[in-house]
Amino acid sequence: MAVEQTDMRTSIGSMRLKNPVMTASGTFGYGEEYGSLVNLHRLGAIIVKGISLLPRQGNPPPRIAETACGMLNAIGLENVGLQSFLADKLPFLQGINTPLIVNILGETIEDYQQLAARLNEEEKVAALEVNISCPNVKEGGVAFGIDPGMASAVTKGVRQHFSRPVIVKLSPNVTDITVIARAVEEAGADAVSLINTVLGMAIDINVCKPKLANIFGGLSGPAIKPIGLRMVWQVAECVSIPIIGIGGITTSEDAIEFMLAGASAVQVGTTNFINPKAAEEIILGIENYLATNNIASVQDIIGRARET
Ligand SMILES: Cc1cc2nc3c(=O)[nH]c(=O)nc-3n(C[C@H](O)[C@H](O)[C@H](O)COP(=O)(O)O)c2cc1C
Repeated sequence: MAVEQTDMRTSIGSMRLKNPVMTASGTFGYGEEYGSLVNLHRLGAIIVKGISLLPRQGNPPPRIAETACGMLNAIGLENVGLQSFLADKLPFLQGINTPLIVNILGETIEDYQQLAARLNEEEKVAALEVNISCPNVKEGGVAFGIDPGMASAVTKGVRQHFSRPVIVKLSPNVTDITVIARAVEEAGADAVSLINTVLGMAIDINVCKPKLANIFGGLSGPAIKPIGLRMVWQVAECVSIPIIGIGGITTSEDAIEFMLAGASAVQVGTTNFINPKAAEEIILGIENYLATNNIASVQDIIGRARET
């Protein structure tokens, strides 16, 4: 019997989503910027640009460079800061019938805790996504996300101050991502999202200088999809919390690959800069895939490629 209507619902901990397609932090502004281009109510969730306690100016330009099948960015986590986010950005998002996930970043564990405590007061914030790819200033600038002990400590800190789902966003710039994934699961994360950008660089041969003022930047876009997919597969093998797949997702086929590898949801990032409607098109593409293959629910494809 043919499936009459496909069920696109999925969940991340206690957060229920109408479909599994989210927009990735830093590639979708604070939502409002895309409001005239995208039906924001149609999205599975909106993840806003990473928020810090105080506003950040980010790195000096040039801070973006195009590469084969991707881009490098060294934005340096520029953002309006918590107070302005609450006063100027949140009111617009309150009116959108889509779960809001706030991505947070800090320089110390206390920064993350304060952000979590204040955002916990805002009912509209359905979940936090904790960006641990930032330097810990109290530990000599080593990124939280590359050390299992620090990743665990920051997860515990946020967990204590936020009552709804805590998603920890993992960095691919580590030897073994499964060690970090297990550490944050044990520390109380409700889900993990992966991957953040891959460290890279580019050189302008005409001026014999790095293209980015910061020299190094984060590589994103289709170039990193195989890396993201491989890491989702590896993490799915070792944690039992939901995984959100990220990395170069451009089409519904890409999103489906991530779900077949074990992701319960996906994020669309760099592609938003080329095609702002990409997330909406991916939702439609997944629905068509389910209908064409007579699959009743999107739940049925999560991890399916792993079944023996
Ligand atoms: C310009 C830009 C800004 C970003 N800013 C953030 C950020 O503030 N916080 C964060 O966790 N990830 C940030 N990211 C990483 C993305 O959310 C995503 O993990 C990464 O780009 C890989 O996905 P993609 O290949 O689909 O873009 C940023 C990426 C780009 C390209």
